[in-house]
Amino acid sequence: MAKINSNYTNLQENYLFVEIAKRTAAYQKAHPEARVIKLGIGDVTRPIAAVAADAMIAANEELKHAETFRGYGPELGYKFAKAAVQRYYANYGVDVDFDELTIGDGIGSDLANITDLFSSDNTVLIPDPVYPLYKATSIMDGRRICYLECSIENNFLPTPPDYPSDLIYLCSPNNPTGATFDYAQLKAWVDYANACGAVILYDSAYERFIADDDKPHSIFEIEGARTCAIEFCSLSKTAGFTCVRSGYTFVPKELVREGVSLNRMWQQRQTTKYNGAPYATQRGLEAALSAEGLRQADENIAYYKRNVQPITAFLEQKGIFYCGGHNSPYIWMRCPQAMTSWEFFDFLLNTVQVVGTPGVGFGACGEHYFRLSTFNTYEATQEAMERLANVL
Ligand code: MLT
Repeated sequence: MAKINSNYTNLQENYLFVEIAKRTAAYQKAHPEARVIKLGIGDVTRPIAAVAADAMIAANEELKHAETFRGYGPELGYKFAKAAVQRYYANYGVDVDFDELTIGDGIGSDLANITDLFSSDNTVLIPDPVYPLYKATSIMDGRRICYLECSIENNFLPTPPDYPSDLIYLCSPNNPTGATFDYAQLKAWVDYANACGAVILYDSAYERFIADDDKPHSIFEIEGARTCAIEFCSLSKTAGFTCVRSGYTFVPKELVREGVSLNRMWQQRQTTKYNGAPYATQRGLEAALSAEGLRQADENIAYYKRNVQPITAFLEQKGIFYCGGHNSPYIWMRCPQAMTSWEFFDFLLNTVQVVGTPGVGFGACGEHYFRLSTFNTYEATQEAMERLANVL
C-alpha cells in the first residue's frame, strides 16, 4: 500500500489565501447583492504593462506560422529572457551569469521547489510574521522550524540568532509588514550564514516598491552573498503578471555545500522536474524588463502607492497603529478593540463587506494584526475606508 507523506496532516486545513477566498465566497453566496471590496490577497488590478502584453501577443502569433513556430524551449529559460534579467540586475550593480539564472513560472513554486536540494534534517529559520508559503512548504517537507519573532520592538526586522541554522527564509520588503532591511542589517545575515554554513532563501518579490535609497534591492548587492544566498523574484506585482505567472531565480556558482554546487543541483532539478516557462511568457518578461516595460511598471506602482494615503489617513485619524506602505504595497495594522485577526476579518466582511488578510495567517506573532493590500483601485480603496469609518 502506498504510504502518504504524513507531514501533510500537520498543515492547516486550507492555505491562508484559500481560506479567505472560501469565506468570502460563502458570504457572497449568502448575500448576492453585497458589493465586497477586496483588500486581501495581493492581486493586482492594473492591466499588464502594455509593452509586455503586446510582446506576448506577438510571440503567440509567431507560433501560428511554420516559419516562426517553436517546439520545446530550454528548461532553464531562453537566452533572451536571461539577458533581460541580467540587464535588470546590472541596474543594481549586480553581475550575474546566464548559468546562474533560471526562468520559472513565478516565485512561489521556486521558493518551495528549491528545498528539494536540501536534506529534510535541515533546520529552517522563518521570520514571524511572513509570507505563509515558507512555513507550509517546510511543514510538507517535515523540517524543523525555528521562528524569528518580529514585533514593534524590533521594527518587524529579524536579526541573526545566537545559534547556528541550515536554511533561512528572508523576505525584504517583508510581506506582510513592509519592514525592509538596510545594507548593514542584510550584511549581518550574510555574515551569519557564511559563518555557520546556512543558505539564505531570499524573496525579493517586492523590491521594486522600495522607496528608500539606503535599502538593497538584491541580496547580491551585499558582499559575501554569493557564497550563502539564493534569490527569487517575480513579475506579478510589477508588470501585473499575476495571471501570467513569471519569475526568475539566481543561484550563484560560488554556492557550494558539502563540496557540491547548488547551482548544478538546481539545474539538475529544473531540467528534470520542470519543462520550462512558456515561450510567450518569456517574451513578456523580456519586454517587462525593458526600459519601456519598467517605466510602465513604475507607473502602476505609483498608482498603487497612491492608495496608501486613504488607508493611512484613516488609521491615523483613528489612532490605530500601522506600518508598511512606504517600501511595500501592504499596510500592516493593529486590530481595533483587541479583536483577534480572524474576528476582525469576520467583523469587516459582515458589517462593511471589506476583505483583508488576518495577521495570524502570517504567523503567531501576527495575531491581533491585519493586512490591507493597496492593489485595488483608488476608488475602491477610498470607499473601503469610508465604510470602515462608519463602524470603527
Ligand atoms: C499575498 O497576498 O501575500 C500574495 O499576493 C500571495 C501570493 O503572491 O501568492
